[in-house]
Amino acid sequence: MKPLLTVDHVAKSFTAPDGRITPVIADISLELAAGEFISVVGPSGAGKSTLFHLLAEQTSPTAGAVTFHGERRAGQPFSAYMPQKDLLLPWLSVQDNAGIGLELSGMRRRDARRRIAELLPTFRLEGRATALPFELSGGMRQRVALLRTVVQNRPVLLLDEPFGALDYLTRTELQLWLSQLCARDGLSVVLITHDVPEALLLSDRVYVLSNRPATVRHVLEQQAPRPRDLSFLETAEFRHNERLLLDELTASTREGLAA
Ligand SMILES: Nc1ncnc2c1ncn2[C@@H]1O[C@H](COP(=O)(O)OP(=O)(O)O)[C@@H](O)[C@H]1O
Ligand SMILES: [Mg+2]
Repeated sequence: MKPLLTVDHVAKSFTAPDGRITPVIADISLELAAGEFISVVGPSGAGKSTLFHLLAEQTSPTAGAVTFHGERRAGQPFSAYMPQKDLLLPWLSVQDNAGIGLELSGMRRRDARRRIAELLPTFRLEGRATALPFELSGGMRQRVALLRTVVQNRPVLLLDEPFGALDYLTRTELQLWLSQLCARDGLSVVLITHDVPEALLLSDRVYVLSNRPATVRHVLEQQAPRPRDLSFLETAEFRHNERLLLDELTASTREGLAA
């Protein structure tokens, strides 16, 4: 069977008004099967968010193709995208922030609220339906943004550094929670992260990008079953892979500094 999502030799460059061309992605290929969790790691400015804009169909590749079950899907979004910055609207309650994607796709607010209410316990937001964002902790805000993305029920979830701004403990708790949720519900996820242990804890496969213009410099397959818990951090597989990813990433960064 064709993978759910295929990125086939995609390139992306931007043309400035004066005609100057900035290549951001040189050549990226990746695959996501149904129920898989993959991560993309790479230096800052490598083009990771740009890759997500392509996967979210907000922009088109300059070369190559993004296909869904082997086909280009026009007009029917296949992914739900959680952007890098948590964009909760400060004047909307938890339930309405979480339901905004449903409302934008045509659901009535009443129905969106009902759907959100069913999911609040899973996202550890029980009793907080009418709270405003300023009343929430950072971890809760990220869970609202995740809920908003998951509830859209699209085949592919795109998470752009969802835990980057959180403290270590909150981040670890959310990683373990997300790991269980994704395994339980068989979610198909692409995660962008800077955090090597996070990528290893959560993923079936990790793609390491080079500096801009991005290419895939390494693909790491992981064997341990998911969901994984903290004991995974003590395994030989984790230690070996952590070292390998750090070596690849520091090599990317060094090459960037030398360029
Ligand atoms: N619309 C655009 N026009 C021109 N350059 C862009 C545009 N969007 C992104 N870039 C360039 O692409 C580079 C990579 O950006 P981004 O994908 O956000 O990197 P990352 O998420 O890996 O940090 C940035 O340095 C920026 O200069
Ligand atoms: Mg980014």
